[in-house]
Amino acid sequence: MSEKIGMVKIFDTTLRDGEQSPGASMQREEKLQVARQLARLNVDVIEAGFPVASPDDFEAVWEIASDVGNLPDSPVICALARSVEKDILEAARSVENARSPRIHTFIATSPIHMAKKLKMGPEEVLRAIGRSVSLARKKVSDVEFSAEDAFRSDRTFLAQAVRAAIEAGAGTINIPDTVGYAVPEGVKDLFSFLIETVPGAKGVVFSCHCHDDLGLSVANSLAALEAGARQVECTVNGIGERAGNAAMEEVVMALRVRKSWFNLDTRIRSEEFYRTSRLVSSVTGMVVQPNKAIVGENAFAHESGIHQDGLLKDKDTYEILAPEKVGVSGGRLVLGKHSGRHALKDRLDQMGYPLDAEELDRVFARFKKLADQKKELYEEDLEVLLSEEESQAKDRFVLKRLHVSGGTEIPPTATVVMERDGVEHRMAGLGDGPVDAIYRTVSKMTGADARLVSYSVKAITGGTDALGEVTVRLEENGLLAIGQGADTDILVASAKAYLAALNRLERKKNKAGRLSAETPDQVQDARIQGSP
Ligand code: KIV
Ligand code: ZN
Repeated sequence: MSEKIGMVKIFDTTLRDGEQSPGASMQREEKLQVARQLARLNVDVIEAGFPVASPDDFEAVWEIASDVGNLPDSPVICALARSVEKDILEAARSVENARSPRIHTFIATSPIHMAKKLKMGPEEVLRAIGRSVSLARKKVSDVEFSAEDAFRSDRTFLAQAVRAAIEAGAGTINIPDTVGYAVPEGVKDLFSFLIETVPGAKGVVFSCHCHDDLGLSVANSLAALEAGARQVECTVNGIGERAGNAAMEEVVMALRVRKSWFNLDTRIRSEEFYRTSRLVSSVTGMVVQPNKAIVGENAFAHESGIHQDGLLKDKDTYEILAPEKVGVSGGRLVLGKHSGRHALKDRLDQMGYPLDAEELDRVFARFKKLADQKKELYEEDLEVLLSEEESQAKDRFVLKRLHVSGGTEIPPTATVVMERDGVEHRMAGLGDGPVDAIYRTVSKMTGADARLVSYSVKAITGGTDALGEVTVRLEENGLLAIGQGADTDILVASAKAYLAALNRLERKKNKAGRLSAETPDQVQDARIQGSP
């Protein structure tokens, strides 16, 4: 008889570590949208943010705790805090409306971090752990402790730090590979050592949090599970600081496809993976590489004739996992030009996006316009319409109309009509090519001084009438922003992407301005000294 399957908790940190990806930043409304989708995916814990970092971060966590955190079967809503009183009190306040709140407090335990960053000795760090976990426990019953840079820590000292956290009341102990330095055998070894030797370790949940600097984050997370960890911290599409975090979809599907090997599973509804991936990609502007496992465009595409022949005879010859299991519809046709408002509402409900009457009116108007340009509409197209609906209301710059002329005889000219802070403006300008003409004209209209770092275009769904998706990266005074735009006309998509990046840059400039308005100490405190 087979052994009982063990359950692994999925701790999603897309909204916190994921948002630390260079160039990615999300608005509050976008974070709420992602959190709602994470709840549909059925994650166990949502790390909603780092409330002390800025008022905006605080508000985002508060909103998620009050909304998603109040669903009948709501996930745990978690807020991050350094091991200092101010952070813990802010974190506690931010999640007070959640049915299941958690405070996640951390401090570094490696010699280099303690000496150079914290300027604290090991004894002081142990005292800070005891104090901060106890304070967090006075505020909530569910406390997680992380020993930052655990894999470059002295293991005897790390064991003392873990013991201090358990004795102070932490129920989850996270052992992060903060700099992506670990290898799978080393991960197994460290987890086994801590679970076997630290007093009280058997009564808490051990968790892993692996960064991908050496491309080992998923392998390291699976190794931690084999050694007894029962929580994985991960992000959608593997986004996160530097090279990112372990990709949730990869960890979960590895456990599911190789269930007999691991004898472990999660509560995740994997059919929601593809949709979640697209949503996170569109709100962060972080493109998913085509060969990305599970959710990449080519993840289920078979090119070689031998493979295709094998598949036709029996899918199992070359397919270890059916695309439908992760929500890849294979370009499922959903609606057409003649579909009415009711059919659209039905389909959006089925996709898990119930809209109110006003929202539906707006999306339906866009749907009709798109259906005039494109014969067949797929779920992916509807998702683009929805993400535009979500973002436009709050953007400073909104494209209204665009006319571009060019060719072999005429210099490329763009006429742009756009709204700036709700007021309509119109301007025409020349460029070296049609996209250059659009970007130069928009720059003049917005007063932007951003440098175009990269520009790329790809097709969403097939056919010559497919939606083209353009991604641009802009840089201004060291701030990086990514924007995406989709349309059947790639020049319109180019303009939308440029404006999306400019809007994101505006928000980043505002946030940076707010931070520098704090006292130097506060800035030092929040940004440098202990930021994860
Ligand atoms: O990478 C890291 O160490 C972190 C901690 C805050 C868990 O993100
Ligand atoms: Zn991290």
